[in-house]
Amino acid sequence: MPAMIDVDIASATDATAGAAVGKSHKLWGGRFGAGPTPEFDALNNSISVDFRLWPYDIQLSKAWAVALWGANVLTLDESKTLERGLDAVRARLAAGEPVRPSDEDVHTMIDRLLHEEVGDVASKLHTGRSRNDQVATATRLWTMELCQRLDHAVRVLQGVLLEQAESLQTALMPSYTHMQRAIPVSGAHWLLSHFWPLERDRVRLRAAAKSAAVLPLGSGAVAGCAYPISRVLLQGTLGFDAITPNSIDAVSDRDFVAEVLFSATMVGTHLSRLAEDLIIYGSSEFGFVQFGEGYTSGSSMMPQKRNPDALELARGSAARMLGNLTALLATLKGLPTSYNKDLQDDKRYLFDATDTLLLVLPATAGALAECRFRTERMSAALSSTMMATDLADYLVRKGATFREAHGAVGMLVRESERKGVELTALPISSFAAAHPRFDEDVFDALNAERSVAQREAEGGTGPVAVRAQIEMARVALQPPPTPRSSNVAV
Ligand code: ARG
Repeated sequence: MPAMIDVDIASATDATAGAAVGKSHKLWGGRFGAGPTPEFDALNNSISVDFRLWPYDIQLSKAWAVALWGANVLTLDESKTLERGLDAVRARLAAGEPVRPSDEDVHTMIDRLLHEEVGDVASKLHTGRSRNDQVATATRLWTMELCQRLDHAVRVLQGVLLEQAESLQTALMPSYTHMQRAIPVSGAHWLLSHFWPLERDRVRLRAAAKSAAVLPLGSGAVAGCAYPISRVLLQGTLGFDAITPNSIDAVSDRDFVAEVLFSATMVGTHLSRLAEDLIIYGSSEFGFVQFGEGYTSGSSMMPQKRNPDALELARGSAARMLGNLTALLATLKGLPTSYNKDLQDDKRYLFDATDTLLLVLPATAGALAECRFRTERMSAALSSTMMATDLADYLVRKGATFREAHGAVGMLVRESERKGVELTALPISSFAAAHPRFDEDVFDALNAERSVAQREAEGGTGPVAVRAQIEMARVALQPPPTPRSSNVAV
């Protein structure tokens, strides 16, 4: 669940708070005789979720007040009064203005406060707009900022990965496929295998931010705005890249929410895999990693325990993000054209997933930063059998086909298993029996450093290739030449 805000029930019933307090402030109701039931309000009110949109709702409302003046709907005086009133509302909200349970949503609350500040002229602000284009605009503005915050948090974690990787360039460890020992790699190469997925995530987040940066305001409820407002001016003032081309689509397009949720879920998935590696490597059986104290906890029963809770929570929380993504996609599937109230839940999913990610990212970065890598345990896990591929390559270099070499080395591995010894402990006669092209120099091929040093093709674990990789990673973390400036201040 997203963080719920406190709804100040006392102020709604407090007689001293003024006559208007008892009856609810609504943006609709003219055609209704009796008011809504409490059960309906409990279901329908979304203020506990959407309250956080208030800075963006004020920002777009100020721009709308100017647009209405430009369209000759408001006088300059009225427009200025509304702008000043919205500034006062912003100051009250920033100072902790309490929510009333009768506030249906953040737009209604701001409208109520604006009435309190400037009186009846506040009623003119909603001319030509609807909460449908309003909420879409506010959510997009919020999302554009969010993508920048996520980008930053991902970069911090990438920076830690890079720093740890640099210190592990000469540390060798097994690589694994199927969780079985495969071929020796450098510790840096393993750690950087978690850097690049995050780099792709940042590309996805940038694309999602671009999808969000399209202005729906000026679409009205569904059919467009009947007043000659300048949407181009609104776009520029609010910092959008483009304007929605179809008002029906504009009020119900939540593709950008789906794109952010997918990007966030991919980050969460990548974090869960990094966390899993660290957790396994931190077990006594592996012992490659020693956890610090800042992101671990003890056991209430077992005095010896130091549990990697932050990493376990990072691993687990990917499930919540995936749940939010699937819930949003399920909401969108089969939805009739245009705005439908189902869409109100988009923010629940968006906020829950991204709040979670913004907790998990710094905790993962912190947990990794305080990990100590036990390089002696990493290299102790290497065995000469892991150089079986190098042995086959040795024969290939001496003129054998790879298939033939694979078979010969397989026989040697079987023999070493039968005798319960390492490949290096087999006599040269065994090698000669397995394949005539084996010579005395075969034992050089069974060396981990040499195995690693041979893999210098780009993207491999050879020391030169890894240094180049580290350089590429450093370049990827450079800030872009013209960072997107944050949105116009409210
Ligand atoms: N709270 C609503 C939402 O988040 C605002 C839009 C309501 N529109 C309406 N026609 N009732 O979607």
